Amino acid sequence: MKDILNELESRREVARLGGGQRRIEAQHAKGKLTARERLEVLLDEGSFEEFDMFVAHRCVDFGMQADRPSGDGVVTGWGTINGRLVYVFSQDFTVMGGSVSETHAQKICKIMDMAIQNGAPVIGLNDSGGARIQEGVASLAAYGEVFQRNILASGVIPQISVIMGPCAGGAVYSPAMTDFIFMVRDTSYMFVTGPDVVKTVTNEIVTAEELGGASTHTRKSSVADGAFENDIEALIEVRRLVDFLPRSNREKPPVRPFFDDPNRIDESLDTLVPDNPNQPYDMKELIAKVADEGDFYEIQSDFAKNIVIGFIRLEGQTVGVVANQPMVLAGCLDIDASRKAARFVRFCDAFEIPILTFVDVPGFLPGTGQEYGGIIKHGAKLLFAYGEATVPKVTVLTRKTYGGAYVVMSSKHLRGDFNYAWPTAEVAVMGAKGAVEILYRSELGEAEKIAARVKDYEDRFANPFVAAEKGFIDEVIMPHSTRRRICRAFASLRTKKLQNPWKKHDNIPL
Ligand code: HXC
Repeated sequence: MKDILNELESRREVARLGGGQRRIEAQHAKGKLTARERLEVLLDEGSFEEFDMFVAHRCVDFGMQADRPSGDGVVTGWGTINGRLVYVFSQDFTVMGGSVSETHAQKICKIMDMAIQNGAPVIGLNDSGGARIQEGVASLAAYGEVFQRNILASGVIPQISVIMGPCAGGAVYSPAMTDFIFMVRDTSYMFVTGPDVVKTVTNEIVTAEELGGASTHTRKSSVADGAFENDIEALIEVRRLVDFLPRSNREKPPVRPFFDDPNRIDESLDTLVPDNPNQPYDMKELIAKVADEGDFYEIQSDFAKNIVIGFIRLEGQTVGVVANQPMVLAGCLDIDASRKAARFVRFCDAFEIPILTFVDVPGFLPGTGQEYGGIIKHGAKLLFAYGEATVPKVTVLTRKTYGGAYVVMSSKHLRGDFNYAWPTAEVAVMGAKGAVEILYRSELGEAEKIAARVKDYEDRFANPFVAAEKGFIDEVIMPHSTRRRICRAFASLRTKKLQNPWKKHDNIPL
């Protein structure tokens, strides 16, 4: 009996070594942790339970039958993050470059199926040379199986990808269909075709880092949601994110203990909006000041900075925040901001996370670049996302909201539940100057007359009361009591039930 137990232990030891000590050292030399070390950081201590440790590939081409490492280049299983169940896979670059064989993909599919069935997030740690070249089309088919599960799991369980090494070719499409992608600076990249192919086809000379590194994807393409300095930082941030999320669309997000009075008054908010309407202020200050313990988990912080998205907690409950940022492009809506916020709103709605919207928006960004790029369709995404969302929606208008952007930003007309305005707020078709220039074009030469007209318009419209008279603003509130107001609003909405008409699915302008 002892021999049998010893054999299991020695088989396990071999499996744990993956591609062997030499390759583990090579992995460390690149500043990367191994697949198993990463799981140790990601999961609660001692919580990891492995599946399929002894799975080996079935390929017999190219002499592959002589090299059948246990586990086949991916470590899969489940564990907990702060006590909550998650399913994980972690590709092992030390085994054939973490390349994806038929059996490697079957291991991933197995844990994805269990995650969907049992209602828990899937976290994929990607570090792979792509399709196992020796297996040819079998490997491509195997990717297809993973893709199909990514699609079926979307909106059912949260899916998180961390790119911690190469991720190229069609392989990028599995992470691309997950909810959040994080990357590690300098050691990870994602592209559909690498620098060599790019050079051949387009004559562009570009490094892998420039083409698909963490900076590129968090600043330019917005493929990734966050970039971190090293493996450990990235994994710890994933733990933080998971804490905000429900296990599945069948459950509510977790409620955490909180140590911040929901009735906390913040007098400094009364002076947050400057007297000069052209002077910006930092919307993130407002977010931090209303959040429990000032904790804000920002997503896509380096992309489309004119809109801010992320998670906070109010009375321990997760809330998704969308906020115009007056510090960047005056907080206007453009293509990038609309896309960024729309996807976030849809994520929140899919997973029953209430949405808090802070509005200070001068409108949509004008210009040929925007029109040719399809701002009409992209802006419609955000409008559509807010309008279809059935989760509790609380909106606070801090300064101005003009034109179509007023309707888009979680207005009453899109089934906003509570639409509050600060006394500094202004709801209008456009700013006073622009309005007067159109209405009184014939007087444009006469500065005094125009100034009087502008003043007139401002007196009439530069306040929240016209909208409040019509019931489009539910209440004009004191800035200092914002936290108390929105905590109470969300508390009253905890039993909200709203359903859209039955449909197979909608046809959001993609
Ligand atoms: C089999 C692979 C492999 C692969 C790497 N290896 N990629 N084995 N299939 N796709 C093996 C290497 O032979 C080597 O084995 C070990 O992994 C480490 O690879 P190195 O090249 O030594 O590492 P490095 O210099 O860091 O380069 C990493 C790399 C490079 C950039 C990923 O290995 C590479 O270019 N690989 C091929 C990438 C590729 O073309 N993949 C197919 C893409 S198409 P030893 O025994 O020496 O340790 C695709 C389509 C997916 O993925 C479609 C889905 C629908």
